[in-house]
Amino acid sequence: MLLSPAGVEALRTALTRADFTSNGIAGRLGAQATGAVARNDFRAALRATEDRDPLATLIRVFICDQTEPEAAVAAALAPLDLAEALAGGLVERHGDGLRAGVDLEPYGDDWWVLADVPASARPGRPLHSEHVLGIGGATQTLIGATVRRPVQTALDLGTGSGVQALHLATHADRVTATDVSERALRFAATTAALNGQDWELLRGDLVAPVAGRRFDLVVSNPPFVVGPGTTTHVYRDSGRVGDAIGAELAAAAPGLLTEGGTMQYLANWVHVAGEEWHERVTGWFAGTGLDAWVIQREVADPMAYVNLWLTDVGEATDPQRMAAWLDWFDAHKVEAIGFGIVSLRRSGHADPVIRVEDLRQRVEPPMGDRVATWFDRQDFLRVRDTDALLAERYRAAEGLQLRQEATMGDEGWAVDRQVLTMPHGLRWSEEVDPLVLALVGGCDGRLALRDQLALLAAAHDVTRQELAEAAGPIVAHLIERGIIEPVTA
Ligand SMILES: C[S@@+](CC[C@H](N)C(=O)[O-])C[C@H]1O[C@@H](n2cnc3c(N)ncnc32)[C@H](O)[C@@H]1O
Repeated sequence: MLLSPAGVEALRTALTRADFTSNGIAGRLGAQATGAVARNDFRAALRATEDRDPLATLIRVFICDQTEPEAAVAAALAPLDLAEALAGGLVERHGDGLRAGVDLEPYGDDWWVLADVPASARPGRPLHSEHVLGIGGATQTLIGATVRRPVQTALDLGTGSGVQALHLATHADRVTATDVSERALRFAATTAALNGQDWELLRGDLVAPVAGRRFDLVVSNPPFVVGPGTTTHVYRDSGRVGDAIGAELAAAAPGLLTEGGTMQYLANWVHVAGEEWHERVTGWFAGTGLDAWVIQREVADPMAYVNLWLTDVGEATDPQRMAAWLDWFDAHKVEAIGFGIVSLRRSGHADPVIRVEDLRQRVEPPMGDRVATWFDRQDFLRVRDTDALLAERYRAAEGLQLRQEATMGDEGWAVDRQVLTMPHGLRWSEEVDPLVLALVGGCDGRLALRDQLALLAAAHDVTRQELAEAAGPIVAHLIERGIIEPVTA
């Protein structure tokens, strides 16, 4: 840990007493200044904390990144001894005062997360090779996408600050967290202790520290950044060439999961000229026996990608690094880099579903619930052939909308496109033909789909049999996306 057990307890006392929590800070600063802080505008927060009571000092040091007088910082951290806080790197000397040595972030209702101060806050200072990442966009993506159903055992691979483990502990009886970095594990252990949690912490490369063990839920925000395989910063670079870490985690998944277990991780994959990206990613899961749902949330061109990740470690101005990275992309015909969420489930069935698709639209949170119900829908589909699917009654998704595009011709409006759009949940849009539109329109939960099809067959002059055969895969697709939902008795 960064501090002794007694030191962590003393820090917890100091933070609790001062009410240095998300709510306590918001109460002190007010809505406007809190909103401004979220945009890195600290002016109002500094005005609201001119009286140096403990909460004000903690806000100035750990939120606004100010250098404050030693006596005020010592009083704010008491009963934690200042010498221990300095030795543990919690604060550091700067000018004639003290400033934050770590990112001590109030998080959730009453949690704190310890990480390193980001590169942007210490321009010119090289980032530690074992820099411990704070709560960034990718971190939050995984937090939001995690299925939060109760489990007995959960594993966080590459725990860093420990923030994923913190969330896992809310719905897992036992939490294990690993990291290759000893330094990261010290931060994670401190985060755990500061929040009164107890996780098993193990050091090692990817799944090596948990070899032979299985978990009900595995999450990982790994160092997924793709490139030549060189490692300068362990939070970003896996040391694997290209997107191999995504494939490696997929290959490890069957051996990590209990029956019914779920694994979710973030990944980058390369889009190579002359190759379909989704076929490449689908290949990761062939032979695993797992259900896989991979959604591509973003696509970046190589230049933007390299810029982003060099800036992240404060190296945006290094032309040689940039050139070497871009040369590697050129040599491997990488045209773009996809980013997304991999969700795997060990269903135990012989016919796993592997779906790799673009899902770039904004999704209604919580994404984790959407992932859970996607797998539920696969379970529904798996045990039903077309006849059984058509025997069920369905309801169209709540608030489902129809958008039409039409062109005015000699005989009035001619409809060009009809698109169904879900305003909630995964917010899919789906172009449909008139027959499917009529089918979905009739899904009010009263008639079995088979009977709806009989009415449609009569109206469109086709046989019931023909329509039922054609409808099978379409209906399955509409169910998978949640555009129509089975009515449970
Ligand atoms: C992107 S950070 C994620 C940190 C944190 N879990 C989060 O979601 O914010 C990746 C973490 O993986 C760790 N890591 C890097 N390479 C690893 C490896 N080969 N095996 C295990 N952990 C690794 C890094 O030290 C770092 O803490």
